[in-house]
Amino acid sequence: MDVLVVEHPLARARLTTMRDARTDSAAFRAALQELTQMLIYEAMREAPVAVERIHTPVARTDGFRLANPPLLVPVLRAGLGMADQAHNLIPDAQMGFVGLARDERTLQPTPYLESLPADLAGRPVLVLDPMLATGGSMIYTIRLLVDRGATDITAVCVLAAPEGVEKLASADLPVRVVTASVDERLNDSGFIVPGLGDAGDRLYGAV
Ligand code: PRP
Repeated sequence: MDVLVVEHPLARARLTTMRDARTDSAAFRAALQELTQMLIYEAMREAPVAVERIHTPVARTDGFRLANPPLLVPVLRAGLGMADQAHNLIPDAQMGFVGLARDERTLQPTPYLESLPADLAGRPVLVLDPMLATGGSMIYTIRLLVDRGATDITAVCVLAAPEGVEKLASADLPVRVVTASVDERLNDSGFIVPGLGDAGDRLYGAV
């Protein structure tokens, strides 16, 4: 499984803001939005383009547009903090939604929402979730996509734990990961270390 770690200085600065426990919710949301732009930009680097002839005010030239805009799938709640920025960068994208809450004791994902197109054959998909911890939520989401025929899936995450990356790789799914960091480890409570805490709570408050 390919893992692209985006280590651009601007991305590292936004990630530092998100990690810092002193960052309040508004600044955390802003940093996530800015970092999302950078992650999506890198995730789309190899996307095929269609060429069309256009007129500038001066001459005719080749223009380019995305040949096959992806489906964006934020994983609620925390993935919602990435959705608008991803959509701004890819205005032609369609958006689906998956809602999962991780049981704090068992660490298993509990689904509560699934709103996806029925047929994803031939469509690239970008899954948006700030955190890849044990990997359970991402594997659950990707299986929903594969069941609908998706074969080209990118998990766009702010942070990943090595344990989650390994589990995702061994699940043998058609996925690659784009992230700003693969951190040191998971702790006994399933939190990424050093991580940034609970992204959903820092964006929207504890439930
Ligand atoms: C967090 C995070 C991921 C998941 C990662 O969500 O946003 O979806 O946990 O953990 P995993 O890799 O071990 O499955 P959470 O369940 O806390 O829900 P929230 O986004 O509503 O806060």
